[in-house]
Amino acid sequence: MKRRLIFLIPILLVVVSCKYDFILPVPEAPVTAGVSFATKVVPIFTTGNKCTSCHKAGGQSPDYTAEKAYSSIVPNLVNTSSPNQSLIYTLAGPSTSTHNWKKLSASEAAIILQWITEGSKNN
Ligand code: HEC
Repeated sequence: MKRRLIFLIPILLVVVSCKYDFILPVPEAPVTAGVSFATKVVPIFTTGNKCTSCHKAGGQSPDYTAEKAYSSIVPNLVNTSSPNQSLIYTLAGPSTSTHNWKKLSASEAAIILQWITEGSKNN
């Protein structure tokens, strides 16, 4: 019996030492990340003060500054069941604007629409 155990020790050692010696799976191509509110949507409003020249604290509501943008937009200005009906998208949209001030460019509007379609998350 003891002898058998002694035989088992090197086998166990091999098994244990091989345990972590597996080949890691090659990671798949990253899934296209969703549109981040903080890094993609907010800069549309704030870069060059495009919207925040007026839409800021003490100015015209809604306040689109980085600190307030999310609570200004969600839920009031988004329509999650029909994202393309969302006021944040249509009111200053490139073709749908009824707003006499600055408009969104087509690519900015597309980013906002995608963000709403993805659930208008505070991400
Ligand atoms: C020069 C000032 C000015 C700038 C710049 C401006 N806005 Fe406005 N915005 C207003 C005013 C004034 C109103 C309220 C009257 C109206 O609805 O037209 C308004 C209203 C809005 C509303 C409607 C809010 C509501 O609760 O009904 C939205 C949405 C909006 N703006 C989006 C934008 C976006 C997006 C930008 C940047 C692309 C922008 N605005 C830039 C002046 C501005």
